[in-house]
Amino acid sequence: MLLQLQESKIREVANAGIGRDDVLPFWFGESDEVTPDFISQAASDALQRGETFYTHNLGLPELREAIAQYTSALHGPVSSARIAVTSGGVNALMLAVQALVDAGDEVVVLTPVWPNLTAQPLIMGAVLRCVPLRPEGGAWVLDLDALLAAVTARTKLLVLNAPNNPTGWTLSAQEQQRILAHCRQTGTWILADEVYERLYYEPSANACAPSFLDLAKADDRLVVAHSFSKSFLMTGWRLGWLVMPADLTPQLGKLIEFNTSCAPVFVQRAGLVALQRHQEVTPRVVAHLRQCRDTLVPLLQALPGVQVSPAPGGMYAFFKLQGCDDSLDTAKRLVHEAGLGLAPGNAFAPEANGWLRWCFASRELQRLHEGAARLRRWLQL
Ligand SMILES: Cc1ncc(COP(=O)(O)O)c(C=O)c1O
Repeated sequence: MLLQLQESKIREVANAGIGRDDVLPFWFGESDEVTPDFISQAASDALQRGETFYTHNLGLPELREAIAQYTSALHGPVSSARIAVTSGGVNALMLAVQALVDAGDEVVVLTPVWPNLTAQPLIMGAVLRCVPLRPEGGAWVLDLDALLAAVTARTKLLVLNAPNNPTGWTLSAQEQQRILAHCRQTGTWILADEVYERLYYEPSANACAPSFLDLAKADDRLVVAHSFSKSFLMTGWRLGWLVMPADLTPQLGKLIEFNTSCAPVFVQRAGLVALQRHQEVTPRVVAHLRQCRDTLVPLLQALPGVQVSPAPGGMYAFFKLQGCDDSLDTAKRLVHEAGLGLAPGNAFAPEANGWLRWCFASRELQRLHEGAARLRRWLQL
């Protein structure tokens, strides 16, 4: 099985250019802005106090409570009995898949998608069925009937990531309602990767993308994965969480014991402060990311042969480049010939070959202008 796992094509491109100061990197999904001081300070303080020991498998009770309150404010009541603290979003998702999928189980995944979400079920020996979004102009759209037709009583798990990496596509509340109703009938679990829920640029009452948690009952077969990485500028800290039905939480605790035992305690302390003072971080991050999106997308749209629409959520411009029939090859050439580091579309699904992903989370807007100028020059426009 391990041999079937593909090496990341994003890494393949980055390895070609990492450490070269003539390359402007936009390949990974993270901001180049460091974590706010008050969050780092909370970790230092915890270390100074001697907080260097294991915690409960499911996390510090006060952090679980803070996550429950944060989630409840966005989506309606969620108790801390439904929360597990994890070592990042990646770990949250892997734990959920370990908990829900046995070898031979059928898992349906909507693509294009961040490659971890297809790799994790494969690691568990699942039979994977991918349902593609459909490109329309520079955007991607969901054929809901095709998705629902693919999810049957044989489907153990449906994996959805919205707002989506790489396409920026998001699910509407109406679509979530139909998916939930369908999965109730088929007995299928939903694993919703909502790590980008706060990076949402459409008008909304709670500055948040539509979530399955807005609609589901506490005992629905729904697990939602979250992360501190994106909305709190904490990628390197490796902290995330899961929301699930309360009777699954103790089972998750057992799995955490055998994976990581717990998230590092001083990292959890930092996470607690991040949540307590989230209003000082997230709205500013999102306002800046909107500016980044609104800077980059028009620059790309002005290039003949480029098709792209402003994403309603996430931190990526995903664009189709005319004449590019091998994204990996094009991305490598862009590194070598243009000094521009982008992620290849075929890292996310075969149907996204010909597309490139640009992470627009850049502290300096000027970097986006410079990157677009490099692309323009490379296209010899
Ligand atoms: C769709 C999606 N889910 C989850 C994650 C996990 O992030 P982390 O492990 O940093 O919390 C990422 C990171 O890029 C992502 O793009």
